[in-house]
Amino acid sequence: MSTEKVDFNDRMLSLGLARVSEAAAIASADLVGRGDEKAADQAAVNAMREQLNKLDIAGVVVIGEGERDEAPMLYIGEEVGTGNGPGVDIALDPLEGTTLTAKDMPNALTVIAMGPRGSMLHAPDTYMEKLAIGPGYAADTVTLDMTAAERVNALAAAKGCAARDITVCILERPRHQEMIADVRATGASIRLITDGDVAGVMHCADPETTGIDMYMGTGGAPEGVLAAAALKCMGGQIYGRLLFRNDDERGRAAKAGITDLDRIYTRDEMVTQDVIFAATGVTGGSLLPGIKREVGHITTETLLMRSKTGSIRRMIYRNPRG
Ligand code: FBP
Repeated sequence: MSTEKVDFNDRMLSLGLARVSEAAAIASADLVGRGDEKAADQAAVNAMREQLNKLDIAGVVVIGEGERDEAPMLYIGEEVGTGNGPGVDIALDPLEGTTLTAKDMPNALTVIAMGPRGSMLHAPDTYMEKLAIGPGYAADTVTLDMTAAERVNALAAAKGCAARDITVCILERPRHQEMIADVRATGASIRLITDGDVAGVMHCADPETTGIDMYMGTGGAPEGVLAAAALKCMGGQIYGRLLFRNDDERGRAAKAGITDLDRIYTRDEMVTQDVIFAATGVTGGSLLPGIKREVGHITTETLLMRSKTGSIRRMIYRNPRG
């Protein structure tokens, strides 16, 4: 993976990227709270692909909806864009939190990141153990090798507060029972989420607004790379270690060119060059409001960020609809 700085016209392309995530959100609007995850996801995928194909890029999906044989579109390796423009890698999740959308629960997002070729880890569709904190802390203030309680205490010491003043975000899963007990034993608070760990990690970048200081636990590896792209723009650290449950998953890693299966990746090892990142709120949350549907129009809010400049835009889009 190259660490060379490459200009991919990110300043102008970022506006196009916002359109892509907006379009995916708008397409899923009528499926919020309708109990149909698949339909919501499909609508977002179709719209995201249609918009991506209008951009003047020679894009390749490196983090997508799955491998070619399991995803009809936006599969890993799919070429997108008009072909007239810079060669870019794309990581996307047209609907991050399909169940959140179907049940109208908080923090469902449409997410897309773009960088020069070779800028993002080609994470296989396996699990990843993740640990994230916000900006302003020294490297390795917390590490994946610490116990959950050690991480809380180390972060509290670095923040200059007591463990009880720390809030940790964790996906509510049986596999996290021990971690949850370990964190609780320190006196720290836990915000349990049922889905959506890209948003979970992003919350750490703005603890004043979201109330979250740290994210930990196991979720999708593709979501880990998307979260790393977001934190590269917003500031903050994330560590990820791929987890494999069987030979099929180890085979997926080999196919993605990963040889060291135990490696811990830092944020800048998952995303090695400057990227642009866009996320649009589908259901309301602490980072972004959800889609607002009113008679005659629909309104979305998009977070659009560039890691090169650290710029963060919030774009409100009001779109007439029939
Ligand atoms: P979907 O958008 O595909 O529903 O995924 C949501 C999600 O919660 C991710 O945010 C997370 O990384 C992953 O699923 C966790 O996987 P699992 O549900 O298997 O624990």
